[in-house]
Amino acid sequence: MPADIAAFSLDLEQMAIDPYPTYREMRAVAPVAFVPELGVWMVTRWDDVEAVATDRDTWGSPAGLDRLDRTFGEPNILTADGDVHASLRLGIDKRLRPRAVGGYVDDLVRPTARRLAERLRDGGEAELVAEYLEPLSVLVLGELLSLGDLGADALRRLFKELQQGSGNTTGDPTRFAVSDGAVAEIMAHVDPILDRLEEEPDGSLLAHMLHAGGAPRPRSEIYPSFLIVMSGGMREPVHAGATTLLGLLTNPDQLEQVITDPKLITRAIVEGLRWIAPIAQAVRSPVTDAELAGVPLPAGAMVHAVVASANRDERRFQRPDEYDLARSPNAHLSFGHGRHFCAGNFFARQMLRIGLEELLHAVPALRLDPEAGEPRVHGLMFRAPVELRVRCR
Ligand code: HEM
Repeated sequence: MPADIAAFSLDLEQMAIDPYPTYREMRAVAPVAFVPELGVWMVTRWDDVEAVATDRDTWGSPAGLDRLDRTFGEPNILTADGDVHASLRLGIDKRLRPRAVGGYVDDLVRPTARRLAERLRDGGEAELVAEYLEPLSVLVLGELLSLGDLGADALRRLFKELQQGSGNTTGDPTRFAVSDGAVAEIMAHVDPILDRLEEEPDGSLLAHMLHAGGAPRPRSEIYPSFLIVMSGGMREPVHAGATTLLGLLTNPDQLEQVITDPKLITRAIVEGLRWIAPIAQAVRSPVTDAELAGVPLPAGAMVHAVVASANRDERRFQRPDEYDLARSPNAHLSFGHGRHFCAGNFFARQMLRIGLEELLHAVPALRLDPEAGEPRVHGLMFRAPVELRVRCR
């Protein structure tokens, strides 16, 4: 870093507890700043974050996300650019477009959501992350990825093991060994399915990944992105669901409105996604020397476009730290923007809508357990309530 560029120091432990006061300060005094503790540049205002995601001539995928390439393999959808990226998206998008999702999502999600919600109601007390959102997410996405017969416990273990690698910012070999084990186990399960799909394509997402573009693709082009869909696709809806429920449970008048008028659930989820972005940043690098908000950035610099901060930019939102169902405008950047915009965004929102419909229908008396203390929200790169202890009657 050149000596004349101001650095903005972060207390990472404090940021994981509550990053928002620091983001506010950064937006005010250093909206594009080098953060020595992470070795990255952070961009924190809405307009600049949007510019990073949409200006394709200046910004490309980062060269330095080695831990993703190491965990999932290459080429993968998150770190690829240009034609390679477009070809990988082709295989994934077909089953995730709104029209396609609309045709299957209710049958896929509602029976599982209902069964899990009725079990909560009958139990009286629950922890919503482990007992509702996680099993719902892994079972539904497992089914979408032809992994349904593995069952909730194995799927939950596998997706957490994958994240040992993808979140391994220190390059710890023991963590990569855990994710390598999960990758081998998943491939051993999926290989025979791909063998079958080569001969008999069906309408599954895996079949589309295999056959998009004509002749069956080599498995080296399928697995990296398949593993990314499995890893992110199972975790982020859990985080978004937990955040939305936290917003509602801590604002009982808004929860009451949603129970009275379930059509508001869609809006509640949008505001949950804005309020606490499950993935705090999109990582990009300028392809040539660039300038953002007057700050020069060298080609190849690792830049975090902090959507979690943009979503609370006071230049765009009034009272941005509050969860507000009636907020207008309420658009957010939590699914990213531009070329890498989340492929599963529509699916995730529909799955959460149905999940919350069933939960609030089965458990209209849902409220935070007064004896459990205030729910703890944690995480800097990935953020969500750790637990949501509730009473159901
Ligand atoms: C509420 C839940 C979710 C959130 C908040 C979320 C968020 C994101 C974000 C921020 C990105 C962009 C990363 C970047 O720009 O570098 C992304 C990409 C992606 N997401 Fe999601 N996601 C969610 C659910 C899902 C689901 C359920 C699936 C699959 C069914 C999925 C599949 C993908 C894929 C394949 C990409 C890569 C797109 C690309 O690079 O072209 N996501 N997601």
